[in-house]
Amino acid sequence: VDFPKDFPKNFLWGGATAANQIEGAWDIDGKGLTTAEVVRKADDRKKMSMNIVDPSSIKAAINDSTTANYPKRRGIDFYHHYKEDIKLFAEMGFKVFRFSIAWARIFPNGDNLQPNEKGFEFYDRVLDELENYGIEPLITLSHYEMPLALTQKQNGWLDRATIADFTRYTEVVFKRYRGRVRYWLTFNEINTGTWGFHETGVVDSHLDKKEQENVRYQALHHQLVASALATKQLHEIDPKAKMGCMLARMQTYPATCRPEDVRAAQMEDQKNLFFTDVQARGEYPEFMNRYFAENGIQIKMAEKDQEILASSPVDFVSFSYYMTTVTSAEAGEEVNGNMATGGRNKYLEESDWGWQIDPIGLRITLNEMWDRYRKPLFIVENGLGALDKLEDGKVHDEYRIDYLRKHIEQMKEAIKDGVQLMGYTMWGPIDLISFSTSEMSKRYGFIYVDQDDEGNGSLKRIRKDSFYWYKKVISSNGADL
Ligand code: BG6
Repeated sequence: VDFPKDFPKNFLWGGATAANQIEGAWDIDGKGLTTAEVVRKADDRKKMSMNIVDPSSIKAAINDSTTANYPKRRGIDFYHHYKEDIKLFAEMGFKVFRFSIAWARIFPNGDNLQPNEKGFEFYDRVLDELENYGIEPLITLSHYEMPLALTQKQNGWLDRATIADFTRYTEVVFKRYRGRVRYWLTFNEINTGTWGFHETGVVDSHLDKKEQENVRYQALHHQLVASALATKQLHEIDPKAKMGCMLARMQTYPATCRPEDVRAAQMEDQKNLFFTDVQARGEYPEFMNRYFAENGIQIKMAEKDQEILASSPVDFVSFSYYMTTVTSAEAGEEVNGNMATGGRNKYLEESDWGWQIDPIGLRITLNEMWDRYRKPLFIVENGLGALDKLEDGKVHDEYRIDYLRKHIEQMKEAIKDGVQLMGYTMWGPIDLISFSTSEMSKRYGFIYVDQDDEGNGSLKRIRKDSFYWYKKVISSNGADL
């Protein structure tokens, strides 16, 4: 046995982004309005705003043709800066770049029958540029957005018709990029659809909690079926390409060793892993069937759905990792996380946004995910949102280096534990618009972008200290941390 193991030679080091957080150019070249572009920015740094939508706020957003209150419309103008940005990624030595395609660039209304050629041309250019530098693309087909028209017409994923709209989109994308893209993901952090609108495009603010839960799991069932169908399509159209699922993995610890707490934590974990269970193993796990039955949740399935799920499991399992939480059998103090709510862990430090930092949790997570699925794993998000200071043209972000170093050390330990890990795309290699609060000042990047929360600034790109550090990490294949 070749022990101790280390990062494999072909390990995919890189960074991850999403269309609605970087592209801008929200209303040009035929693009339709997306669900992400009608969510106002948060008034309070610690309060997430991505689900505060109702029919009247959507109407107000449609009537407002500015980007002022809707920062995801302007992003960091990657649409016009992609060459410069990819060049900087190449300078760091990226092997892979994760980005998403905005569905509404390809099908502006979601139900169009013919794709929008201009929308495709943008992604053609991005792929050309990545190929120039030998950077492998990893594409998310739906990252927290969809054509708003589908929400207006059929309440997003709640309607089964959205499955056909989605697979019409994925089919043209796979055909166009056959042979050019090896790694794909269907839905970003699919489990967060239990939190509502941003993932499913379902407006349910008028419903009570119980009805909301029902509606959300129904919409998510449609996404799970669509994900399996897209996996099948990909395998037929481009047999060498690989499809992954994507989970916001939220490991939770029991608050004490009291069996009631341990059991409560186990259930929390099962609810989180449910999605990947379906996507990787091809069926609804029994514990969720029981949960649905006991909580009055009735999922309408079409006759063939179970067969579809079983026939096309994903090739690899990807997830984001930002934090862990704590669960107790009783309701306790809540920690504000990346939409995660759970107990606070007194042993951990936290970020400026109250996200608890737990590098060892990453090793635990990797081991457990590998044991559970025995499919290659890919960490497609991990990073630190912080308030950076630009001084004399420099950003000394040693706190970010420290965060990433500690997480990468634990990745290395997990690899030595025997985990098969394909790659690591750090979240937000370039500062971008925050998902949960739509702030610019929640910065993740190795590259600083000169833009403030109001959208003022030159958009100039500036290398932070962490830029040089990550470059060294990649060139030494994780040896020099
Ligand atoms: C993940 C999302 O949940 O976390 C990203 O997939 C997001 O889109 C990232 O940006 C960090 O969250 P935030 O709210 O700090 O941007």
